[in-house]
Amino acid sequence: MMLAGVYTPPAMGVTTSRLLDITDLSVEFASMEGTVHAVDHVSFAVAPGELVGLVGESGCGKSVTATAILGLTRMLANATVSGRIDFQDRDLLALPESEVRKVRGKEIAMIFQDPVTSLNPVLSIERLMTEGIELHLGLSHEDAVARAIDMLQKVGIPKAAERIKDYPHQFSGGMRQRVMIAIALSCNPKLLLADEPTTALDVTIQAQILRLMKQLSREYDAAVIVITHDLGVVAGMCRRILVMYAGRIVEEGPAKPLFHHPHHPYTVGLLKSVPRLDRPRSDELESIEGLPPDLSHLPPGCSFAPRCWLATDECWQTPPKLFVTGDGRRSACFHRDKLIDLAAAEVTA
Ligand SMILES: Nc1ncnc2c1ncn2[C@@H]1O[C@H](COP(=O)(O)OP(=O)(O)OP(=O)(O)O)[C@@H](O)[C@H]1O
Ligand SMILES: [Mg+2]
Repeated sequence: MMLAGVYTPPAMGVTTSRLLDITDLSVEFASMEGTVHAVDHVSFAVAPGELVGLVGESGCGKSVTATAILGLTRMLANATVSGRIDFQDRDLLALPESEVRKVRGKEIAMIFQDPVTSLNPVLSIERLMTEGIELHLGLSHEDAVARAIDMLQKVGIPKAAERIKDYPHQFSGGMRQRVMIAIALSCNPKLLLADEPTTALDVTIQAQILRLMKQLSREYDAAVIVITHDLGVVAGMCRRILVMYAGRIVEEGPAKPLFHHPHHPYTVGLLKSVPRLDRPRSDELESIEGLPPDLSHLPPGCSFAPRCWLATDECWQTPPKLFVTGDGRRSACFHRDKLIDLAAAEVTA
């Protein structure tokens, strides 16, 4: 299914250089049910130091996109990956594994979705932290321990010099997530992929972790892609949002205008399901009716058509490409003008 060839640079007017430039990325999995189109012709770019949110419902391909960037999908026997992932002007997909290994964990780090399973329980925090530092930064073990303690202090672990001897299960959920951030940032990555970094945490700790990530990204000049199904998480943190649905980017834009006036009906639905402080409490939260499509049997037209109140015949027949809809904004909807007109009417009312 071709959606390619329409990508235009984000016209943010803020940064022109790109750290990460993904063009036409597709990841397919062979399965018993057929080919799963987990990531379907996705293109987007991230500037150095930029905070970008990648949002969408469960199963839409967020984690697979991240693991492809990290070069992990190439290790899966049932995966086929195509397109380009240019990172600092080198296509990671075309590099041999020996070269990707130098980038993984050093230039690009990832906080995995499940901190309980992603921190090896039989290794101490010292071991978990120093291995990467020694390998990537070439430090002696003694210097690596000093750097690890310094990182643990930076992420707010009290008595870091003692706690570095502990094992992951000796930390609370919030503290474990701080350790994950410390590990991820310990080799000064240029890009951090944070996959649902706060989902398992309560609201107060969530806010602390998000603040910490934002502060450290600035301090270390690291770009961050925050992956979440929760728009509330990215609202306060990210400047730019990518909305993903059924393996594709369906809307992209600067956070504020996108949240105030979405240009895709799916984003409208997502926003209605999030509590907002600027709306009366009496406004009821709505969930989007229906379910996302089976990625091994995608409908021929727009994947959102079966759930969309704007859908017409055209939507059922042809998959919409991403149309430019404003400054740095794109929407994969044939009826985007209706939403743009609605927004204009709201502004002039
Ligand atoms: N190794 C694999 N083999 C087959 N299918 C896979 C594999 N990994 C992921 N998938 C499928 O790819 C699709 C996208 O999965 P992904 O994990 O990226 O979703 P997600 O957006 O991260 O969802 P969540 O919010 O639940 O984490 C899903 O249908 C999933 O079942
Ligand atoms: Mg995921």
